[in-house]
Amino acid sequence: MTDHTLHYFNISAFQNHLLDWYYENKRELPWRENQDPYRVWVSEIMLQQTKVDTVIPYFHRFMEKFPTPTALAEADSQDVLKTWEGLGYYSRAKNLQNAVREVVSHYGGEVPSNPKELGSLKGVGPYTKGAILSIAYNQPEPAVDGNVMRVFSRVLKIEEDISKARTKKLFESQVREFISEEDPGGFNQAIMDLGATICTPTSPACLFCPVQEHCIAFAEGLEEALPVKKKAKKQKPVAYLVLLIKDEQDRYVIEKRPDEGLLANLWQFLMVPIEEVGWDHAANWVHDEYGLDIKISKRKGELKHVFSHLIWEMEIYEARISGLDELDGRLRAVSKEEAAQFPFPVSHQKMFTYME
Ligand code: ADE
Repeated sequence: MTDHTLHYFNISAFQNHLLDWYYENKRELPWRENQDPYRVWVSEIMLQQTKVDTVIPYFHRFMEKFPTPTALAEADSQDVLKTWEGLGYYSRAKNLQNAVREVVSHYGGEVPSNPKELGSLKGVGPYTKGAILSIAYNQPEPAVDGNVMRVFSRVLKIEEDISKARTKKLFESQVREFISEEDPGGFNQAIMDLGATICTPTSPACLFCPVQEHCIAFAEGLEEALPVKKKAKKQKPVAYLVLLIKDEQDRYVIEKRPDEGLLANLWQFLMVPIEEVGWDHAANWVHDEYGLDIKISKRKGELKHVFSHLIWEMEIYEARISGLDELDGRLRAVSKEEAAQFPFPVSHQKMFTYME
């Protein structure tokens, strides 16, 4: 793309083609029923890194349980995590609740329409801010995520690496030039729908594209070559021994993860980082870390779980404990039914099939 390109680009025809297509074809999604800024906010947080089809049932349940900012602000954070269970990237839920608490305490429960105030809330970055301002408040703000960068990299033949933070800024300034002043929310959502249904990562359906005539990548046969994206680093494998520890009443020992970091405040069965600890010292390690005297017994199976940056390779063993009286503050002994009330990451929900 050059300045030359923009000079020749018919922005208002592009907007009309895009918006006409959108209002003919837009997906009926639960967060599109109205422009309630709280609903838009929750939906945009859930949709980060997560597909629309996955989000829909979570969105319905979340809105039933926490229909207003006040309801979410007053909720127990473990209850919020339980509602988020299985959606992943759990810090989203924590940040959302903290931010909503601030909205209730500082802004009388009204989601701010002022870009500065909105952008200062926990977890509200430029994307979420732009989505809320445009969709709920009709302000011509860009909402640029990976999908939007893909569409614009093709339309404008932008060849910068989209995995670089700097590149996102470039796209934001481009979208500012292109966005419809009359219908910014429609414009941003049209680009999202185009990216999801037509301008897909592989095999884009250019023959059905409403803005094909504006697309430089299509004209030059470059649609599959764009966007340019540096390959992500490979996930690092980490081996764990996962212990299904049973006491004399057949209750299982579970542990609350730390307040910060990966899967913060979710619950799990005890995990021994087996490469550091060594198989021979696993029981001793559990004693030193948790004050529990265990005997490791039967092997139950193995599981892998892939995160964005690492892979858990888990070997699952049963263990027995005798004389469980005092438990460390983050430990509980629970029946299988009781365990189901706690928020677990998906990898540990899978352990339930090994419980007898
Ligand atoms: N992806 C991110 N935000 C979206 C929205 N509002 N509608 C559809 N897909 C989306």
